[in-house]
Amino acid sequence: MSPPDLVSYEAATGAELWRGPHGDANAAVNAARAAFPAWATAPLEARLEVIHRYRDLVRANAPAFADIIARETGKPHWDAAAEVNSVAGKVDISVEAYHARTGTRIGEVAAGRQAVRHKPHGVLAVLGPYNFPAHLPNGHIVPALIAGNTVVLKPSELTPATAEHMGALWAQAGLPDGVLNIVQGAAHEGRALASHADIDGLLFTGAATTGYALARAFAATPHKILALEMGGNNPLIVWDAPDIAAAAALVIQSAYLSSGQRCTCARRLIVHEAAAPALVDAVAALIDRIIVAEPFADPVPFMGPVIDARAAERLEAAFAAMVAAGGKPIRALTRLPQGPAFVSPGLIDTTGLTLPDEEHFGPLLQVIRVPDWDAAMAAANATRFGLAASLVGGDQALYDRFWTQIRAGIVNWNRPTSGAASNAPFGGVGASGNHRPAAYYAADYCAWPVASVETDRPDATIAQGLRLA
Ligand code: NAD
Ligand code: SIN
Repeated sequence: MSPPDLVSYEAATGAELWRGPHGDANAAVNAARAAFPAWATAPLEARLEVIHRYRDLVRANAPAFADIIARETGKPHWDAAAEVNSVAGKVDISVEAYHARTGTRIGEVAAGRQAVRHKPHGVLAVLGPYNFPAHLPNGHIVPALIAGNTVVLKPSELTPATAEHMGALWAQAGLPDGVLNIVQGAAHEGRALASHADIDGLLFTGAATTGYALARAFAATPHKILALEMGGNNPLIVWDAPDIAAAAALVIQSAYLSSGQRCTCARRLIVHEAAAPALVDAVAALIDRIIVAEPFADPVPFMGPVIDARAAERLEAAFAAMVAAGGKPIRALTRLPQGPAFVSPGLIDTTGLTLPDEEHFGPLLQVIRVPDWDAAMAAANATRFGLAASLVGGDQALYDRFWTQIRAGIVNWNRPTSGAASNAPFGGVGASGNHRPAAYYAADYCAWPVASVETDRPDATIAQGLRLA
């Protein structure tokens, strides 16, 4: 008997959006393997022709694409439109990065011509998360295809419709059969793909627990590339901020954008105890003005729901656990009546508490009051993660100290923790990644370097160590 269909639901309403069979990882890997030689040896220009057509189709289909993302994830329509824009924008950035980081370099040396060229790995598996269901898988797929790899994507089981739409645009762009294969399904299909003997690597974006399980599974295959982009428990320090209103706006953008479902969202607001009351009041006042509504609502919402009712339940439980541990609620994270997955933005003072170092992937921000800068830095670095961090306020000297002392791959000053740029490397340290940053540096994990010394004809003598002839 075949397993029940995979179904996805509109996050805002719970209504069914998409239904389809679970995919077959083995068939997809075989198709990708069969397509690899022709795609890898096609001239770069031929690959780019298809990839540029895809970019143009994404732009031409932007309204429909954004609609699907907004309905499936629940993010506001403007947020989904920005995601589609990033999907198209990724193409030119990735072409530039391919040449800058993995292109061909040829120079003359005494021994002849010295060349550095790059080869694709082969068949790359991609596992995607639900929060950016198009942008993040796309951020692995585009550089992988430019470099000549073929790809098998297993999107999040919560966002299959978005992946299907993206796959259709690739097909319309003329991508040859087998070059990109989509396997719909959940962890079962993810495991089948990740453990398939005939993949040459795995590019993963998702939760740290999943990433660690994948790293354990890949321990036996160090010859395969494994790129892990995982979560964070990101600190935001507000220090000597001259403009409290601006600081509060940056806090809101950092913690509650996309309903807190960005890996770079701030989870811990660290502030000097003397400055805390004014800042917390300003943040709470802004929270009270946040419009939480379905993606297409008028007036336009700042936040939609979280991805589903289970995520909402988990967040509610996380907030309750912080309260039970002694946290002082400033704004309660509670379920809202708009739909099964709506929650209100939560703000809680957890100063002095020792809480589990977990990522709560939603609109939940802790306030931690500290007596001095050293305590602020100690609090900021008191995490096994190391993805994003930001300092709001201070001067150049303080920012330099912050930059030096903080353990994170994305370090901002007077900007939100979220909103990372595609034309820069994107990755974290500690439990946030395995030193294979994505975005601009994704080129690095999509190809391997080959160093050559070459001359057009053999020409050699042995200068020392021979008996006279
Ligand atoms: P997740 O880890 O639950 O799922 C990611 C993908 O892995 C999905 O396709 C899922 O089906 C698959 N999967 C789950 N268990 C698996 C297993 N045992 N073997 C193989 N595949 C498996 O992540 P999510 O909940 O979809 O996404 C949210 C998480 O992603 C958050 O932790 C967030 O911080 C993180 N994230 C990280 C980045 C980054 O670039 N660092 C960006 C966005 C999201
Ligand atoms: C993410 O990939 O989840 C966050 C990207 C960003 O910083 O906005």
